[in-house]
Amino acid sequence: MSTSTNILCFAGSLRHDSFNKKLAKIAMQGATDAGAKVTYIDLKDYQLPVYDGDFEAKSSLPDNAVKLKELFLKHDGLLMSCPEYNSSVTGVWKNVIDWVSRPATDNEPMLHCFTGKIAGIMSASPGALGGLRGLVHVRAILENINVMVIPDQIAISQAMSAFTPDGERLLDEKKDASVRKIGHKLAEVCARLQLVAKVS
Ligand code: FNR
Repeated sequence: MSTSTNILCFAGSLRHDSFNKKLAKIAMQGATDAGAKVTYIDLKDYQLPVYDGDFEAKSSLPDNAVKLKELFLKHDGLLMSCPEYNSSVTGVWKNVIDWVSRPATDNEPMLHCFTGKIAGIMSASPGALGGLRGLVHVRAILENINVMVIPDQIAISQAMSAFTPDGERLLDEKKDASVRKIGHKLAEVCARLQLVAKVS
């Protein structure tokens, strides 16, 4: 299917050697193969203070929150690999969601950056569940802020030994294909919804 779909891809980790950054990049290949234009960002390049209503009241949004909002708005799909911390989402990921959800101007509609977006989600962890419990929360949070999350998802367990030495693939070919499929599916769903929007 030919598409002009734009997908924003990132991991909910700042760590340089993050398993979730590697996983997000593998899924990204699937989206690219499906014809989507994918922008990969590292949240380390968009550091933010912890959300503070007093900071916002005094100084509005930090520059990096504004930059992230602009990126979210420019893209149809969000492809995210989210680590699990203490059975839930990471503070980094939730802080980005919280800042980006705040209006940058007085007349900006509620949840402007999220409404109508489609997301594909995954996780990787050295543990036995691969971050699966965190994904339950990631999905719930996104759906509550008007993001449609595709049903396919994957949690990669034993992440220490799951990747090839260059980090560009998963050693288990079936899992590698499943991760790519999430990116591919996300691109397809975005493209199909664009077609529906065009004819309606
Ligand atoms: C973790 N980790 C972790 N793993 C898991 O499977 N379930 C969990 O509940 C937690 N909790 C947790 C809390 C905190 C504070 C840290 C720092 C770590 C381990 C985590 O999955 C591991 O550090 C991953 O490597 C994090 O992902 P990245 O940074 O490699 O993408």
